[in-house]
Amino acid sequence: MAQTFATVSYKELGFVNTKEMFARANKGGYAVPAYNFNNMEQLQAILTACVKSRSPVILQISKGAREYANPTLLRWLGRGGIEMMKEMTDKPIPVALHLDHGDSFELCKSCIENGFSSVMYDGSSLPYEENLRITKQVVEYAHQFEVTVEGELGRLAGIEDEVSSEKSHYTDPNVVEDFVKRTQVDSLAISIGTSHGAFKFKVKPGEAVPGLRFDILEEVEKRIPGFPIVLHGASSVLDGYLAMINKYGGKMEGAVGVPAEQLRRAAKSAVCKINIDSDGRLVMTAVIRKVFGEKPGEFDPRKYLGPARDELVKMYMDKNQTVLGSANRV
Ligand code: G3H
Ligand code: 13P
Ligand code: ZN
Repeated sequence: MAQTFATVSYKELGFVNTKEMFARANKGGYAVPAYNFNNMEQLQAILTACVKSRSPVILQISKGAREYANPTLLRWLGRGGIEMMKEMTDKPIPVALHLDHGDSFELCKSCIENGFSSVMYDGSSLPYEENLRITKQVVEYAHQFEVTVEGELGRLAGIEDEVSSEKSHYTDPNVVEDFVKRTQVDSLAISIGTSHGAFKFKVKPGEAVPGLRFDILEEVEKRIPGFPIVLHGASSVLDGYLAMINKYGGKMEGAVGVPAEQLRRAAKSAVCKINIDSDGRLVMTAVIRKVFGEKPGEFDPRKYLGPARDELVKMYMDKNQTVLGSANRV
């Protein structure tokens, strides 16, 4: 029987796990946004945008974010976010607090004991049986507390915290059923051609980026019908913000992301969680560069972090409304 509390239960804090969110997203043909945060302004923007657009949301904390901000402070920020949301609306939206790319059982356990409602164990760089064994161990622990678990099969190109790989290793549809059955994970991240960061594809100016491998996604869906699929590395690297960065002294020529149309297509399928971090980083950088470019004497952090936060709200609302389809679902 499921135990009802961990050291700190996410339920008491006002978070939800991803079970119901994903069931609704699958049925409704949309994807729940999973936005990363490292600081107060990003968290404020994510929650404000999702409350305003009436979208469920997954707040993601990576291992790197914990190290940057301090794990205790960051999770208390998350909790503070729930309290802030209650003041913003009398109809709170569902919010999950999720560990992004957990790389050990101990890290996942620590998050579960400290109020996370969902964790990812990323063993995608390990041999299959080893990935399976540790993912299963995380699931067995997490499910005692009704915390949901995301696993990963197939490797994304680029950096996944300390896990890096030079080229993309697509998910093998032949093993997904075995992995899901034996681990009992609640969702599965797959590799269909995306990668982390702002330089996802090598293309010449004016050339179209290669399409995602929807054929692999379809094969996966056939093997595990209706099972929640997660897409990492899903930032679009929005042109306007990139141009702003380059205009105000940045150097990000050649940055390119996943086109919005491809994400829309994915969101309508079994993909019910879409991870976006880099687009938020680009927005903050663009606005802060612009403020400094136009007002070189500015030195009050509120005068550059504030406008960056306002722009983040707009970007996240637009994602929910026009890309993921998660707006007005709660
Ligand atoms: O998947 C990677 C996320 O964007 C988190 O990145 O490890 O630099 O916090 P980070
Ligand atoms: P992006 O770098 O494309 O934003 O991907 C973020 C991500 O996958 C977080 O887990
Ligand atoms: Zn990721």
